[in-house]
Amino acid sequence: MNKLIRISLLVFIFTLLTYAQKSETDLLRNQVKFPLGASVNADMLLINKLYHYVANKEFNSITAENHMKMYRIHPEQNRYDFSKADSIVDFALKNGKRIHGHTLVWFDGTAEWLKNFKGTDMEFSNEVKKHIQTVMKHYKGKVTSWDVVNEYLSQNGDSVRDCIFSRRMGKEYMAQCFLWAHEADPKAILIYNEYGMEWSEKKLQAMKSIAFDFLKRKIPIHGLGVQFHVKTFDKEEQIVRTLTELSKTGLKIHISELDVMVNGHNQPNAVYTDSLKQLQTEKFMLIFNAYRKQVPAKQQYGITFWNIADNDTWLRKVYKINEWPLLFDDNYIRKPAYYKVLEKVKSY
Ligand code: G3I
Repeated sequence: MNKLIRISLLVFIFTLLTYAQKSETDLLRNQVKFPLGASVNADMLLINKLYHYVANKEFNSITAENHMKMYRIHPEQNRYDFSKADSIVDFALKNGKRIHGHTLVWFDGTAEWLKNFKGTDMEFSNEVKKHIQTVMKHYKGKVTSWDVVNEYLSQNGDSVRDCIFSRRMGKEYMAQCFLWAHEADPKAILIYNEYGMEWSEKKLQAMKSIAFDFLKRKIPIHGLGVQFHVKTFDKEEQIVRTLTELSKTGLKIHISELDVMVNGHNQPNAVYTDSLKQLQTEKFMLIFNAYRKQVPAKQQYGITFWNIADNDTWLRKVYKINEWPLLFDDNYIRKPAYYKVLEKVKSY
């Protein structure tokens, strides 16, 4: 056995022993009154035993981090590839977890073939409809909810985002997508997912207005997804306000992509100091507390973390940032922040 395998095995056994000592009441997911989720990667579930173990033990709602995005699931006009997404769905169903679908229409998740589509605008719209309905019908009865459209607004929220969908289908494209989604699976919970309301009041108000407008026009929307890729220096007041204001719509509120960045200014030599750990813990506690207090129980769709552990955070992979934004460390062990949140939640 080579050294690396021996070390991995020891870490795995150590983590299992750590877990074995914990009772079910020490699981955060059992102490909150809403589903606790994480986004996962199909390959990691397959190859990394610790990852698989923690995903299964700690969370009861699962989102596919990337494998349901159009560029993965529908890579060519006449070819769908459900294999990886199916394996995530199988994992979730086998272990009794809710599945949240992410995401049907997203400018940054679009397949190249659609970006370069040469047909008319009407033909483009038909392709979008076909995509939404094919994917939703494939997962009908398995996937409970969908981010129908992700990141509809521009960066600072002053307009609809200029993207292939708004250019080809008009600014009203989101309403159309919700109608098609509802037609494909009338039982699915349909969500509009967005980021940045924790630092932009304008974006928060724009999201809220869209939700009220959809409700008025009877567009079938059932929930709002608040990504919350939060930074330690984001203002407490605006985080709380985001949840308060959006709850006024009466729609389900999903904190859909939670992480708390400690290196928000992307310093190349950043160190995970005790004071940053403290600030991060406080932010996590604030968010869990605000979710309980500001969002009425029947609107609490859940809190989903974006990735499982610091080891697999998207921030390291995609932006190559030194980050430690989650409740599990590089060895998939619970961080002190986990226990602080647990303590807080137990005290309610
Ligand atoms: O799988 C390939 C690998 O084969 C290749 O060697 C490597 C080289 O760059 O790229 C790998 O793919 C990357 C993939 O993540 C897996 O790590 C893509 O380039 C990269 O673009 C992709 O980024 C994802 C991003 O969305 C864009 O789809 C992130 O993992 C994912 O965490 C991120 O998630 C988004 C949410 O969907 C929406 N909200 C924001 C959030 C963070 O950006």
